Amino acid sequence: MLNEVYYPHKELFKNPAFKNMCEYHDKVREFEKDYEGTWGKLAREKITWFRLYDKVLDESNAPFYKWFTGGKLNVSYQCIDRHLDKKKNKAAIIWEGDNGEKRVITYLELYKEVNKFANLLKEMGVKKGDRVVIYMPMIPEAAFAMLACARIGAIHSVVFGGFSAEALKDRILDAQAKVVITADGAFRKGKPYMLKPVVDKALEGVDIVEKVIVVERNNEDIEWVEGRDVSYNELIQNQSTECEPEVMDSEDPLFLLYTSGSTGKPKGVQHSQAGYILWAQLTMEWVFDIKDNDTYWCTADIGWITGHTYIVYGPLAAGATTVMFEGVLTYPDSGRAWKMIEDYRINQFYTAPTAIRLLNKIGADEPKKYDLSSLRILGTVGEPIDPAAWKWYYDVVGGGRCSIVDTWWQTETGGHMISPLPAATPIKPASATFPLPGIFAEIIDEEGNRVKPGEKGLLCITKPWPSMIRTIWGDPERFVKSYFSTAKKNGKPVYFSGDGAMYDEDGYIWITGRVDDVINVSGHRLGTAEIEAAIKKHPHVAEVAVVGKPDEITGESIFAYVVLKSTDDLGEEVELIKEINEIISKEIGNIAKVKDIAFVPGLPKTRSGKIMRRILRAIAKGEEIKQDTSTLEDPSVVEAIIAVVNSCE
Ligand code: PRX
Repeated sequence: MLNEVYYPHKELFKNPAFKNMCEYHDKVREFEKDYEGTWGKLAREKITWFRLYDKVLDESNAPFYKWFTGGKLNVSYQCIDRHLDKKKNKAAIIWEGDNGEKRVITYLELYKEVNKFANLLKEMGVKKGDRVVIYMPMIPEAAFAMLACARIGAIHSVVFGGFSAEALKDRILDAQAKVVITADGAFRKGKPYMLKPVVDKALEGVDIVEKVIVVERNNEDIEWVEGRDVSYNELIQNQSTECEPEVMDSEDPLFLLYTSGSTGKPKGVQHSQAGYILWAQLTMEWVFDIKDNDTYWCTADIGWITGHTYIVYGPLAAGATTVMFEGVLTYPDSGRAWKMIEDYRINQFYTAPTAIRLLNKIGADEPKKYDLSSLRILGTVGEPIDPAAWKWYYDVVGGGRCSIVDTWWQTETGGHMISPLPAATPIKPASATFPLPGIFAEIIDEEGNRVKPGEKGLLCITKPWPSMIRTIWGDPERFVKSYFSTAKKNGKPVYFSGDGAMYDEDGYIWITGRVDDVINVSGHRLGTAEIEAAIKKHPHVAEVAVVGKPDEITGESIFAYVVLKSTDDLGEEVELIKEINEIISKEIGNIAKVKDIAFVPGLPKTRSGKIMRRILRAIAKGEEIKQDTSTLEDPSVVEAIIAVVNSCE
């Protein structure tokens, strides 16, 4: 923990939502005094309602909270139509392709494209409430597809393009999707890669998907399934540019987004309309200080929540210009990101610590070669940032001038929960600082007592908030069990994030990372259970346990302890590792590949058969084992595992 404090350069902020900490505290107090009234006022100001809500918060069926009930709106209208009066010729999306190709889409063009796509979806038989899976590269049509679903009230489920056919199939089946939207493929580091063949494979034996809409991007050859596959490029031409927005209830689902938990299969996190879009827009204004003339760039992929809220919905609801990038930040060289910031005069840049560490490692002085003076705010998200990476981001990328917003949040929270306010909050490097006004994020023990400074506790959100997860698609019991069964406050279950955190003496929040069996690799959230299930598919594997190991670039990497069925297989480790990783790629995707595998004689288990992962985590880190191992079924196994791990190094 660094105790240095960095104060905002006030001259960079003309009219920020919060000018100083007094204004922050005033707003926090306003929420404390009148929670519903304050949220209601914001919802009335920020949302263009077709019909105003009747009630701000309905807690009658907690924890299935409902927000702004009785209200009617349409999220695509909120993101597009209502801006047309003043901003029809303003760039809504600036897109840059892998090879540097550029497209600018104005708000009027966005309106037309989204309406055409919405009409195409209707022609394909999609109706309000139907699920549409979007498996797309980072091209504008991906954003059009999301907004088109929102326009007609279909529920989208975007699946990250790096997921395998198996993972895609699971998500299609769980959501019972009627239509899949994809592309032939796209480009990465100058080379084409394919998506459509993955969809074909995912749909083998699946009969619920009626249509696959294929957008042309890389023009590589693909197979067409008669009667199922349709060409977007052909069919879009005949669509009308007008499509009445569906009148949606505040609480109708807007989208599902699958994410990993500590157990079982990924869960379909369900978000709703009004609360989600309100917070997406508000946090653009509060945390990114988005102003009409700004150009904002978030480097996430639309397959993750960051891409949903902070590339598509938030910036567009705020009427901003959002940059969308198909490529990778290090191609063709380590200056790509900085060149784009210079070219587009980016004002807010939002990325993940893994990217910051990588760019620092491969080109520490590279930012100095570019004019980055347009930058005002630098954002970070997805994993804890370390002070060294933070300082490089601040000094070299931000020229010692910009506010760094270290935003803590999750797929389930919909938008930022804990973050500095760029013109107000004195920042300590690598602390997410304080909860945003309206968000009651607290570090508590299981009974709801606030932990003392320096003590680790559970990071919980003790009041419902508008953009919160509504349920897990098709599994309300799992929703309650996953989030509302760990901690209580005043006898009432509260939302537990899965993260641990600490306060310092000044009340700053320091996130210490997941306390459950979720691993965070390059800001991508992976469940140990999913990876273990994949590894177990190898015929020679008897048992496996997977843990996270600290990694200089990716934050964490995956470390697997594998027990083989027969010791005859030892000696074939290199082959086995290759085969195991092939299975993981097939079952989940390349992002879940293991970096280290130790073939061990057994796993440390309690007498009741529970694997003591804490011991395995400590061994992976090379730490001394402090836990009492006498309760293990076979304490000698620990020494044996350490010996194997040491011999691998
Ligand atoms: O562990 C926290 C980490 O990412 C998890 C949420 O992952 P996901 O749902 O995929 O959403 C990522 C993008 C919002 C959290 O439980 N995390 C996210 N932001 C931070 C973070 N850890 C530390 N600092 C952050 N700023």
